[in-house]
Amino acid sequence: MTIILKSLELETIAVDKHFQKRDANCILMCRPDYFDVDYIINPWMEGNLHQTQRDRVFQQWQKLYHSIHSYATVELIPPQPGLPDFVFTANAGVIRGDKAIVSRFRHPQRQGEEPFFKAYFQQQGFTVYELPPNLPFEGAGDALLDRGEALLWAGYGFRSTLDSHGYLASWLDIEVVSLRLINPKFYHLDTCFCPLTGGYLLYNPRAFDNHSNRLIEQRIPKTRRIPISAVDAENFACNAVNIDNLIILHQASNELKHRLTTIGFQVIETPLSEFLKSGGTAKCLTLRLTEPIANFNGSRKV
Ligand code: ARG
Repeated sequence: MTIILKSLELETIAVDKHFQKRDANCILMCRPDYFDVDYIINPWMEGNLHQTQRDRVFQQWQKLYHSIHSYATVELIPPQPGLPDFVFTANAGVIRGDKAIVSRFRHPQRQGEEPFFKAYFQQQGFTVYELPPNLPFEGAGDALLDRGEALLWAGYGFRSTLDSHGYLASWLDIEVVSLRLINPKFYHLDTCFCPLTGGYLLYNPRAFDNHSNRLIEQRIPKTRRIPISAVDAENFACNAVNIDNLIILHQASNELKHRLTTIGFQVIETPLSEFLKSGGTAKCLTLRLTEPIANFNGSRKV
């Protein structure tokens, strides 16, 4: 009897662990039911304690959801009371293929999110990797796959530790380029750096130290680099969701929109001012679940 039960259990586990087949573009979001600025862990949150407007929070999130939903499949993770920043699913972990490295948050205020994201990745059949305790790493907030070659760009300096990057390289089996963030307003890599389809890069050079800027320039030719102005940076133009040739973001100047459309992108602006009060906009509110082990054709070298 025990043996039968055991084998049934095993079977259940095997079914649970089956890695979900998804549409090419599948994005994880979380309803903002419990979102607010309840504590201060970045400069954007200062002066905004409990200043978000509920109706606007929902309107803005819904509008983003519908924009993304028109071009991609959206999966939802249930919101959790007492975890106001859980809405920023970019910080769940980093994904490549069927592997997920779950985040270890720097600040205790967000550490309660970890078990929920871990359970989600496990339920979805990802092979889940966990960093040693006391080695902060904040997921796709600080680790972004290049779109022109097999390369992971990883940020450090505020939330994620440089020491976590070695684990990313070995577990995800990919080259990692580490970039040092120096401006506390751009504390996550995805607030100032956005790899785009075709190997382009939208980024705010002022957010990085000189060495990191050189690494970026060595790797990405000038014709593919799109450095943005200080004004666009403050409007979180780099915190963009890129799906094929579409770019969804909070706000961008006419110059930047023009530059992006000239090279073939379509830009959709969707207001996310309530979330900017917490230091996050479009990209932070999403996590791409489908990150194929890419088969790049050297698009950047052409
Ligand atoms: N209030 C959140 C924090 O400080 C915002 C997170 C934004 N997420 C991101 N991927 N940049 O952690």
